Amino acid sequence: MVKMQENDEETCWKTALISGGSSGIGLAAAKLFQPFQTTCPWHPAHSMCKRLSACDLNFGKLRLIHRSAVLQPPSTIMKKLLGKTVLITGGNGGIGLATAQLFLEQGARLAITGRDKVSLDQAQQVLGPDTLVLQSDTGKVSEIESLMQNMQSHFGHLDILFVNAGSSQPAPFDKVGEALFDDVIATNFKGVFFTVQKALPILARGASVIVTTSISNQRGSPNFGVYAACKAAQRSLVQTLSLELIPHGVRINAVSPGPINTPRFGHRWGVPQEVVQAARADFVRKSPMKRFGEPDEIAKTVLFLASDDSSYLVGTEIVVDGGVSLPLL
Ligand SMILES: NC(=O)c1ccc[n+]([C@@H]2O[C@H](COP(=O)([O-])OP(=O)(O)OC[C@H]3O[C@@H](n4cnc5c(N)ncnc54)[C@H](OP(=O)(O)O)[C@@H]3O)[C@@H](O)[C@H]2O)c1
Repeated sequence: MVKMQENDEETCWKTALISGGSSGIGLAAAKLFQPFQTTCPWHPAHSMCKRLSACDLNFGKLRLIHRSAVLQPPSTIMKKLLGKTVLITGGNGGIGLATAQLFLEQGARLAITGRDKVSLDQAQQVLGPDTLVLQSDTGKVSEIESLMQNMQSHFGHLDILFVNAGSSQPAPFDKVGEALFDDVIATNFKGVFFTVQKALPILARGASVIVTTSISNQRGSPNFGVYAACKAAQRSLVQTLSLELIPHGVRINAVSPGPINTPRFGHRWGVPQEVVQAARADFVRKSPMKRFGEPDEIAKTVLFLASDDSSYLVGTEIVVDGGVSLPLL
C-alpha cells in the first residue's frame, strides 16, 4: 500500500483497469471512479486529472484515479448520512461504538444503547452531548418498547437501525443450563426480533436496518452452540424480514464479522485470560491474513449498508472476516 503524502504528486493517484468499461455497469463504475474535482487542493496545477479521466472515458481502458476523497479538505467531502436519524443497539463498545463514531463523522443524528453504566458514560464522552445514550436491555421486550417510544419522541422517526447488541458465553454442550440458554437467546435472538418489530412503526420509508450476525452462523462453533444458533436464526430472520419489510419501504441486511479486535473480546467468557489469549492466537494462526479485523473495518461495511450506496441490497449478509471462513480444512 502506498502511503499518501501531501507533497508527493506520485501518490495522488491510484490506477484501475475496468474491462467492459464502455457501457452499462462498467461505464457506471468508471463515472463513479472519476475525480469529482479537477484540481487538487495541495497541487492546484494538477490539471492532469481532468485530461486523463476524459481521455479514458472516451478511448482507453487504463484509468488513473485521483484520490480526491483523501485530498479534499474534510469540509468539502459529501457526508453520506447527513441529518439521518440512527439507533445503534450495543453502541457503548467495540463494533457499535466504532460505527457510532463513523456515523457521527458522516453527519448522522445518533442514539445508542447498552446496559453497562460505566461504558455508557464513557461512550457519551466519546460521542459528545448531542448523542442520546440510553441504558436499555435488549433481552427485555418492555425495555425495547420504551426505547422505541423514546426514539419517537426524540427523533420522530428512524432512518437507520443497527441491531448490533450481542454477547456470547462459552460452555460445552452438556454444561449448558436453562439460565445460560435463556440469557443467550434473549440477547442474541429474541432481542433482535423484537427490536426490529417494535421499531417498524417509526422506520421511515427508505430506512435501512442492519443486523450484526457472525461467521459462526455457518460453521461449527464448539462451546458456542447457543450463540451460533442464534446468529444462524438472525441470518434466517434477515432473509424473511427482507421480504416482509419491502412493502414498508425498508431494506434489511446483515454484516457478518469474523474475529474482531474489540477491547472486550472474551471479556464475558468467564474463563482465565490465558484461555482467551490462546483462543486469540488460534484465530490469528488460522486467519489467511494472520490478523484480527478492527472494529472500524466492520463500521465501514455497516456505513455502506446504511447509506444509499447499497440501495439495491436486500436480505443479504456481507461477510467481513479476512477470509477466515474460506478454507475447506
Ligand atoms: N468481536 C467479534 O469477534 C465478533 C465476531 C462476530 C460477531 N460479533 C458480534 O458483534 C456484535 C458487537 O459485539 P462486539 O464484538 O463489539 O462486542 P462488545 O464490545 O462486547 O459489544 C457488545 C455490545 O452489545 C451490548 N449488549 C450485550 N448484551 C446486551 C443486552 N442484553 N442489552 C443491551 N446491550 C447489550 C454491550 O453493552 P453492555 O456491555 O452495556 O451490555 C455492548 O455494547 C455482537 O452482536 C457480536 O455477537 C462480534
